[in-house]
Amino acid sequence: MQKLNLLILLVLGFVSCRYNKEEVLFPNSYCNTNEVRYGTTIKGIIAQYNCMNCHGATNPFAGFSLHTYDALKAKVTDGRLLGAVSHSPGFSPMPQGAARMSQCDINKIKKWIDDGAPNN
Ligand code: HEC
Repeated sequence: MQKLNLLILLVLGFVSCRYNKEEVLFPNSYCNTNEVRYGTTIKGIIAQYNCMNCHGATNPFAGFSLHTYDALKAKVTDGRLLGAVSHSPGFSPMPQGAARMSQCDINKIKKWIDDGAPNN
C-alpha cells in the first residue's frame, strides 16, 4: 500500500509538470506577447485586419498610410494607434466598419509600443 501511494504521487508529479504550461492548459485563451517584433508580428497584424485597404500607400483615408514602419511609427508617436485599435473613448475605432481586433492582437500592439515601438 505504501508503495502504491508513492507510485501514485510520482505519477501525479509527472503529470502536473507536463501540464503546468499555460499554453498547454488554455490553448485558445493563451496570448504570447513575448518576442513581439515589427517585422514578424506587427506588420502581419496590420495586414491581417486590412488596415491598408484604407491606409495604403496612395490616397490613404484620413491622410495617412500605415504601409511602412515610419508611417505606422508616426501614429504611435502621436498616440493615436493604440487608442484607435482598443476603441478607447476619444478615438475613432479601428478597423473602421469591422469588428474590434482580438484582445491578443491588441495586447501585442501594446507590448510593442511599451517596448518603444522598435523597427525590429
Ligand atoms: C474602411 C476604411 C478603414 C479601415 C479598414 C481602417 N481605417 Fe483607420 N481610419 C479610417 C478613417 C476614415 C479614419 C478617420 C476617422 C475619423 O477621422 O473619424 C481613420 C483613422 C485612423 C486612425 C486615427 C484615429 C484617431 O482617433 O485619431 C488610426 C490610428 C487608424 N485609423 C488606424 C487604423 C488601423 C490600425 C487599422 C486596421 C486595424 C485601420 N485604421 C483600418 C479608415 C479606415
